[in-house]
Amino acid sequence: MLRHNLLLPVSTGDLLIPLSPITDRDIQLSLIIPTYQERNNITEIVQQLTIELDRLIPNGYELIVVDDNSPDRTWELAQDLTEQYPHLRVLRRTKERGLATAVVRGWQTARGQILGVIDADLQHPPEVLGQLWQAIGSGADLAIASRNVEGGGVSEWSLLRRCLSRGAQLLGLIILPETIGRVTDPMSGYFLLRRETIAGKVLSPVGYKISIEVIGRGDIGKIVEVGYEFQERQTGNSKVTGRQYLEYIQHLFRLRLARSGRFLQFIAVGLSGVVVDMSLLYLFSDASTLGLPLILSKILAGESAIINNFLWNDRWTFADLIRTQTSRRQKFRRFLKFNLICLVGLLLSLTILHLLYNFAIHDRYIANFIAIASVTLFNYWLNLKLSWRVTDDSK
Ligand code: GDD
Ligand code: MN
Repeated sequence: MLRHNLLLPVSTGDLLIPLSPITDRDIQLSLIIPTYQERNNITEIVQQLTIELDRLIPNGYELIVVDDNSPDRTWELAQDLTEQYPHLRVLRRTKERGLATAVVRGWQTARGQILGVIDADLQHPPEVLGQLWQAIGSGADLAIASRNVEGGGVSEWSLLRRCLSRGAQLLGLIILPETIGRVTDPMSGYFLLRRETIAGKVLSPVGYKISIEVIGRGDIGKIVEVGYEFQERQTGNSKVTGRQYLEYIQHLFRLRLARSGRFLQFIAVGLSGVVVDMSLLYLFSDASTLGLPLILSKILAGESAIINNFLWNDRWTFADLIRTQTSRRQKFRRFLKFNLICLVGLLLSLTILHLLYNFAIHDRYIANFIAIASVTLFNYWLNLKLSWRVTDDSK
């Protein structure tokens, strides 16, 4: 039998979604259906989604099944369905596995400006799509189906599964509060989002949770949550195992590092500055070396550390913000701002050092360390906003 729709080519390499898809058709929505062993569900879900989307976006959508070489040959049945459903496309992966990366590979071949994902096993009710689509139409960047808002819930989940899900959410709130805290159901695998919020960013999800990847790495502004009842599976079974929970924790830490990367670099540079500051404070002020007055020694040591930190931060921590600002004059202007901010920080730390050393901790080195640590956050935030971000005219 001639197949109506050959399998889509599988993207390889970086999980990077293009800003403007190559397409000759006006596709508004590309909805990914990730499948693994869903032969008994795939016909029903394609049929229900077609009814729903023919009503919502007639001729303006595509369904993309992304199957990971299911032993039950789900991909093959999906291919046969393309005869009857021309807006259905099928992608069969044989070299990669995993729910989250399957979704991203599907988005890489997608042609719509709005991307989405829904499970194949009918646990995500297709009729919720209307409200998600309406939320996107009202300006949301992300419209996500949630079990934890009004109208939401889970069917007969065991107490264990409920505790595991809530426990995972709590852990996420501790490690990645600014991401996990933005939605009531960060585990949701049912949502629509604007392509431009994640286009051009190299994604690197782990395991199941594609939603925390897009919220953690994307430029997501307005989020709308729509309540839904997570349905009982009719056939087949969940592929969630203990491994997915470990992958979730790994994913949280990977996002934590990615989101704190710049601050961690600033801290590393700051630590090198501490070494410079402490060594020179010893060289200038200790009785066994030059024995200069403490305040003069601190000023000389502090300024030397500021120069050290500027050179490292300019070439490493904030380098990506100043790719087009490399002239000597621009560099010197950044140095002056950095110096001014750090001198304010130095005055702050001098005051703290003086107060701590004379009234609390009579060890100059411990007092100095506390003084430095306390102005680090002040220096980072102000320099990011005033010394580097503002010089980036492209922003
Ligand atoms: N391509 C691909 N590769 N698809 C997969 C894989 C995989 O490795 N593992 C699972 N899927 C597909 C399943 O075929 C199904 O369509 C969907 O992903 C969800 O898989 P389930 O195994 O049924 O997950 P669940 O029901 O326990 O949890 C789902 O719902 C939760 C609430 O929305 C998942 O979507 C979770 O991510 C989600 O938190
Ligand atoms: Mn399921």
